[in-house]
Amino acid sequence: MLNAIFDRRSIRSYTDEPIDRETLTYLLRCAIKSPTAHYLQPWHFVAVTNKALLDEFNADFHRVYKDARPISKKPLTDDYKLFFNAPAVIFAYVAPHGNQFSRLDCAMAIENVALAATDLKIGSVVIGYSIIMLNEYPELNEKYKNLFNVPEGYEPVLSIALGKSKNAWPDQRPRDESKFSIIE
Ligand SMILES: Cc1cc2nc3c(=O)[nH]c(=O)nc-3n(C[C@H](O)[C@H](O)[C@H](O)COP(=O)(O)O)c2cc1C
Repeated sequence: MLNAIFDRRSIRSYTDEPIDRETLTYLLRCAIKSPTAHYLQPWHFVAVTNKALLDEFNADFHRVYKDARPISKKPLTDDYKLFFNAPAVIFAYVAPHGNQFSRLDCAMAIENVALAATDLKIGSVVIGYSIIMLNEYPELNEKYKNLFNVPEGYEPVLSIALGKSKNAWPDQRPRDESKFSIIE
């Protein structure tokens, strides 16, 4: 567990090797082991391995944002892949009957996936751009809710791309240790 926390890092280059159904199921089980406020389990997770569908999502992202990524406005070059060609992406959707913590519950579940994946030597990267697009373009949100068979009323919160890293595990980006304190 501690190794997974310290070894996890965002992987942005993947091999074509698929993640099998059993492993994906295990990762989804890890997601729902996460705690939830009031034990609401206010979520629905969809694992997508359909390459055509992930490519279509990427194409929609390029179509609507053209040449600048949302928020950061970093360039969006033709070769930029929203999911970095990962063979699987898990999308977290929050339930309509949630409370003020439900989105956090979903995010914590995604962290469980990232840590479990690290333990299994599977690379991952949390993808927020996908959610920005779904939030900013309601017609695309509806389109993918239909394609992903998302239950009525659920809304996207976060996604995570998963796959075998193409390159050696990169060094982790340094952390700023002034960002915590201890009061005694
Ligand atoms: C909520 C959230 C959204 C993110 N969205 C993206 C994204 O859309 N694309 C991407 O390449 N990385 C994304 N990241 C990954 C961060 O860039 C990354 O975690 C950060 O640079 C620290 O690097 P590390 O994960 O390797 O420690 C996201 C991370 C979080 C927590």
